[in-house]
Amino acid sequence: MNLFRITAFLSFLIILSCAPKENNTTRLKESELQLRALRELSVKENNNPRSTKDGEMVWTHQPYDWTEGFWSGTCWMLYEETGDEKWREAAEAIQKLYVDHKDLTTDHDLGFIFNNSFGKAFRITGDEQYKAVMLDAANSLITRFNPQVGCIQSWDVIDNWQSKRGWSFPVIIDNLMNLELLFEAFKITGDQKYKDIAVAHANTTMKEHFREDGSSYHVVDYNPETGAVNSRITAQGYADESAWARGQAWALYGYTMCYRYTKDEKYLKMAEKISGFILSHPNYPEDGVPYWDFNAPDIPNALRDASAGAIMASAWIELDKYSDSEYLNRAETILNTLSSEKFRSKSEKDYFLLKHSVGSIPHGNEIDVPLNYADYYYLEALLRITKKTL
Ligand code: GLY
Repeated sequence: MNLFRITAFLSFLIILSCAPKENNTTRLKESELQLRALRELSVKENNNPRSTKDGEMVWTHQPYDWTEGFWSGTCWMLYEETGDEKWREAAEAIQKLYVDHKDLTTDHDLGFIFNNSFGKAFRITGDEQYKAVMLDAANSLITRFNPQVGCIQSWDVIDNWQSKRGWSFPVIIDNLMNLELLFEAFKITGDQKYKDIAVAHANTTMKEHFREDGSSYHVVDYNPETGAVNSRITAQGYADESAWARGQAWALYGYTMCYRYTKDEKYLKMAEKISGFILSHPNYPEDGVPYWDFNAPDIPNALRDASAGAIMASAWIELDKYSDSEYLNRAETILNTLSSEKFRSKSEKDYFLLKHSVGSIPHGNEIDVPLNYADYYYLEALLRITKKTL
């Protein structure tokens, strides 16, 4: 081979090895450009976007909404990425709409809401006022911890659909995600109580929420006096014994995140076991974006859930750093699918980035729609894979 051929071959290899990164960088840039329309609209309307229905914007529900931190979190990610003050101004404007919810002790989703927005704001800007809000939210969240059960209660059982089902102390698999707020609170304050509660919740959930095959129940209801399990059931899945896709995604992300903070090997093994369940499941599509439930009866005609795919992609990018197994290629597959015409809206009129998520099929809510949290985790995954940081 002459020198020219060798140089040409080496250049070809370099281009090939760079290709996926460039691809995701372009996707990130395109996402930022597209989300500017949503930024203008949300600032103009002084409202917090959640989804769309029949072409109309759906704002976060009043007086409280578990998704209300995702759009400001998205704005913070884009502020960090671009340095454009408009993203910071939008994040700050939207956060004002729900900041008072930091004191709510009636719901477990404070981690989702405040870590992904105010927590991110503090980590990016170092501004102490964001830290104070975040710690207030962490203090509200830990009031829901019951030492007898070893868990933070997810939903209150008052005169609602939960009480009609006879539940006493429901804990949902999603709740693992709220632990990130507590681990961060421990990191900031050094106060052991935040970490102890997070670890206790993670351990109880590992013991009680999972089946032999590594799949997770959606809801475990406990006896709050004895800590015994009353029942293992579902709210958003197809059936009590099915594997609701977003629940599996929360579990995967949750234990990967627990390993990040604790370096406890059992969390790493749990994340790998959950990955094994997903990846070996005969109903897991080759393109990586799961059906809304692994046991949906109408597979292959069942709806996909882009949000579950985005969460899994982000989690696998992180897990790949810790594990001896290869997960980055799994994340790449999902990102390629989510970025394809089938899932990725390229129209500013759609406002959001991703189509085809499902909120809750059993409740008839948000069927095959865009969702603010699908976009949040898609963007997070693109940032993680292009910046090689978390
Ligand atoms: N945490 C609620 C959901 O995943 O739908």
